[in-house]
Amino acid sequence: MNVLVVGNGGREHAIAWKLAQSKLVKRVYCAPGNAGTALCAENVALDILDNAALADFAEREHIDLTVIGPEAPLLNGAVDAFEERGLAVFGPTKRCAMLEGSKVFAKRLMQKHGIPTGRAQVLDDAQEALSFIEKHPWARVIKAEGLAQGKGVYVCDTLEEAQRAIEELMVERRFGDAGARILAEERLSGREVSVLALSDGTTVRALLPAQDHKRAYDQDRGPNTGGMGAYAPARLTGEERAEVLTRVLEPTIRAMREEGAPYKGVLYAGLMLTPEGIRVLEFNCRFGDPETQPILALLDSDLFSLLESCATGTLAKQQVTFREGAACCVVLASGGYPNAYEKGRRIHGLTEASALEDLVVFHAGTRKEGSGAVTDGGRVLGVTGTGSDIQRAVENAYLGVSRIYFDRMHYRRDIGKAAVQELKEEAR
Ligand code: AMP
Ligand code: GLY
Repeated sequence: MNVLVVGNGGREHAIAWKLAQSKLVKRVYCAPGNAGTALCAENVALDILDNAALADFAEREHIDLTVIGPEAPLLNGAVDAFEERGLAVFGPTKRCAMLEGSKVFAKRLMQKHGIPTGRAQVLDDAQEALSFIEKHPWARVIKAEGLAQGKGVYVCDTLEEAQRAIEELMVERRFGDAGARILAEERLSGREVSVLALSDGTTVRALLPAQDHKRAYDQDRGPNTGGMGAYAPARLTGEERAEVLTRVLEPTIRAMREEGAPYKGVLYAGLMLTPEGIRVLEFNCRFGDPETQPILALLDSDLFSLLESCATGTLAKQQVTFREGAACCVVLASGGYPNAYEKGRRIHGLTEASALEDLVVFHAGTRKEGSGAVTDGGRVLGVTGTGSDIQRAVENAYLGVSRIYFDRMHYRRDIGKAAVQELKEEAR
């Protein structure tokens, strides 16, 4: 089989890497890819927002399955374009991708179908929004409806902060039209966990729970980023896992089918475990980045077979199995990220790191230059360690990190630290 992976981040490298290991797969292409995907796939220079160009390539090269990584091409209708031409594709249609593309769509679906989530009000007028939050002290989380590079959520402590958020989103239009409508949401508290599930529109198969680290600096300080590291499995009791499946994932897939939009692909549920039970904070319509890196590092099942089953409606016959143990991905970023940063810095130590056991270095913002690689984005590498438990996985990841260097390299030193601490306390 020939596969095409669309995207150029760490997530896409992990997907291409795992697909390349499948006995069923002959060739892997990645569009446009990075210096890491070039090691396990053939990079092709295609515009990921040009649906016709992607589908033309898939037809011409006899691609048996195309896997769309990022949300932008999904929301741009890449899957719809492939399906119109009868090409097998993994990912949700444009309408289904609205679960991520519109927080209002997602909230209304959850409210209508009884999927547990925080109380919220949709507001499309700034004056109305300001008077609403003044009257309702529970409404202190302000969210832009649309995509805002992960920066459109304001978790506020005071009324004044919430007012400021509304000004920024609705009056100053910091994120353009993404902030034309907002949600004023109840502020929840508890531990956060992400659960990703595969679906063919009917059957749902959850993957290992994962934990992301969104802030730029240690101890969850600094600005929000796309994710500075992640580990899997995140702590979730059997009961909690069952609850996520039966109260969130399965009902959401059922709801989408009932709405006439069967959801195929990965459904990513960002959850909070509150004292009152599980609540959905957000949905994404794709694999998480960097959650995918530790999840796929532990996946035992054949990824091609799973993804193809989602595309063809045959997931019911598949089981998803994982290796014992844990995995931890530490993101190495360009100094300055998530704000301005420089590109083109030579990356040292990749060969040394890759020679280590229980380690895989996924590339994100990298580009081939000569025989080596240079930085080409904010998040540069995802150094992913595996081990028999989270402590060993974290140690292996940081051992890998210690081998790699580029000018102005920045990373968090506490990825997985809380989980290791909990493990130690349990052992006492
Ligand atoms: P989201 O993009 O909706 O996942 O929001 C980004 C982050 O904001 C989440 O990972 C949470 O840490 C936080 N957050 C979102 N919604 C709430 C809420 N209702 N209460 C408290 N924190 C929230
Ligand atoms: N790491 C968070 C995301 O992929 O949305």
